[in-house]
Amino acid sequence: MNYENKTILTGVKPTGTLHIGNYVGAIKPAIEFGHQVNQNGKHIMFVADYHAINAIKDAPLLRQLTKEIACAYLACGLNPEKSLFYKQSDVPELFEMTTILMAYTPKGFMNKAHAYKAAVDKNIARGEPNDAGINMGLYTYPVLMASDILSYDTDIVRVGKDQVQHVEIAADIAGAINAHYEKEVLKIPASYLTESAQVLPGIDGQKMSQSYHNVIPLFGSDSEIKKTVMSIKTDCQDINDKKNPDDILLYHIARGIAPESVVAEIKEGLEKGGMGYGTIKKMLLQAILDEFSEKRE
Ligand code: TRP
Repeated sequence: MNYENKTILTGVKPTGTLHIGNYVGAIKPAIEFGHQVNQNGKHIMFVADYHAINAIKDAPLLRQLTKEIACAYLACGLNPEKSLFYKQSDVPELFEMTTILMAYTPKGFMNKAHAYKAAVDKNIARGEPNDAGINMGLYTYPVLMASDILSYDTDIVRVGKDQVQHVEIAADIAGAINAHYEKEVLKIPASYLTESAQVLPGIDGQKMSQSYHNVIPLFGSDSEIKKTVMSIKTDCQDINDKKNPDDILLYHIARGIAPESVVAEIKEGLEKGGMGYGTIKKMLLQAILDEFSEKRE
């Protein structure tokens, strides 16, 4: 894509303690994308902490998670001299803008938002009243997100599939305002879909996710990381058996995170037989420590 003079924006919600699956699937690609954009456009990245209040009501926890995600992006290479990088709650104008946008936003736009509809469907399935447990923050989530986007004259919003509708709603709100004043008051944003990010398996072979308790923490201590790597699930094939690397969980994790030369060595060891799982775990551990020790520091 040509980013000449384009403003590209992405928001990340602080949701949980970060793990190397987040790094491989989201943080690293976002930073690399930012580097590309920076060469001839404007890259904006922020932590959407006020969006997170809808779900996280524990202030110290939210502060901690916000700090963690900001530190992770900076430690992993986001250059704040080149990318505009901020915490949403530090920009009060965004919340003024949200109030203004509300006055032009048809309520029907919110009724059709996927996240709200999914919450209603869940209530109906449980025999609860339609809006049980749904707060106005969730209901009007797309307006705050429109403010995030429209306040910066954003051309392109980099998002995953689940957020595309929110960008469309932002475009519709901008369109409604432009139509009202019969001129381009606000820039109409488009979305740029992130390719289906690489999914790293966790230590039990399911997708690495906090909710499965199978993560290798991004900023764990050496001993925590060692403990999780050593507990990666293995089978009981003999050390000398020739193995298909694609069947081996350790190999899949290594492929996501270790340098190519290490991955090649593990592949050969498995195919030929003779390389034990303990040895592979040590190689993987070393690769992870090499990748993250400095960033963690
Ligand atoms: N809603 C996004 C998410 O859950 C985060 C977000 C908030 C965002 N504001 C944004 C993303 C503006 C892009 C643009 O992932």
